[in-house]
Amino acid sequence: MKPTILLYDSGMGGLTIYDAIRQTLPNAHYLYCFDNAYFPYSERSENVLIEQAVKIVQKIAEKHPLDMVIVACNTASTVVLPALRSRFSFPIVGTVPAIKPAAAISESKTIGLLATKGTVERPYVTELIEKYAKNCVVEKLGTTALVEIVEEKIRTGQVNLARLQEVIAEWQTHPTLDTVILGCTHFPLVKQELQQMLPNVKYFIDPGNGIANRVSVLLQEFPSKNTQQNGENIAFCTKMDEEFAKREVIMQQWGFKRLELLNFS
Ligand code: DGL
Repeated sequence: MKPTILLYDSGMGGLTIYDAIRQTLPNAHYLYCFDNAYFPYSERSENVLIEQAVKIVQKIAEKHPLDMVIVACNTASTVVLPALRSRFSFPIVGTVPAIKPAAAISESKTIGLLATKGTVERPYVTELIEKYAKNCVVEKLGTTALVEIVEEKIRTGQVNLARLQEVIAEWQTHPTLDTVILGCTHFPLVKQELQQMLPNVKYFIDPGNGIANRVSVLLQEFPSKNTQQNGENIAFCTKMDEEFAKREVIMQQWGFKRLELLNFS
């Protein structure tokens, strides 16, 4: 049986996680929701993030029996996992900043956490740093602009390099920073541009492969129970706007059959 895996994010950044997973599990049945009604999540309240998580998963699960949900968003994962796990019985996988591998690989023991404004402030992240990076200096850079830059890149193919440079300017002259955690699922999509602008950084830590491995292990532990599914990969959004047709084409290029509007009313 093909497992049905739902991934969701505020936007299209979660496709970086989807991309890593589908390389390991090319035949799974994928559903992807981007919550464009609430994009960007960066500075949204914790209550909004929890409400949206529950609503999205509930709504999609009504029509598509799910085997697993991947919160393909760090901003949401640092808040919504307990709420989802208490309501749904299938495994819920989160995406949280890869502090542990970054602390292990850094030679200068100076690591940068590049994430949204919400993520860098969360107690969850402070605890991860306390637990795994006590021996490191951890620089935090919280940005909403970089999420918007990436979303624009996905839509237009263009990166606003001047704006990107403004975002990371303070790290360009950092004397010891050698490792950067891409702590938002959007950011691997501008990894090359970041590498060019931060030539002294040796390691950019992208969580995609780690999550893909975790998903494979979980699917062995919790094999698919779905018996009725047509197997079409479908994308969902939460708001109809003038970009719908364009986004549908993009989602089709990523292997989804069509884009549907999730109707909560
Ligand atoms: N891609 C998301 C993350 O990993 C959210 C970005 C946003 O909407 O602010 O944090």
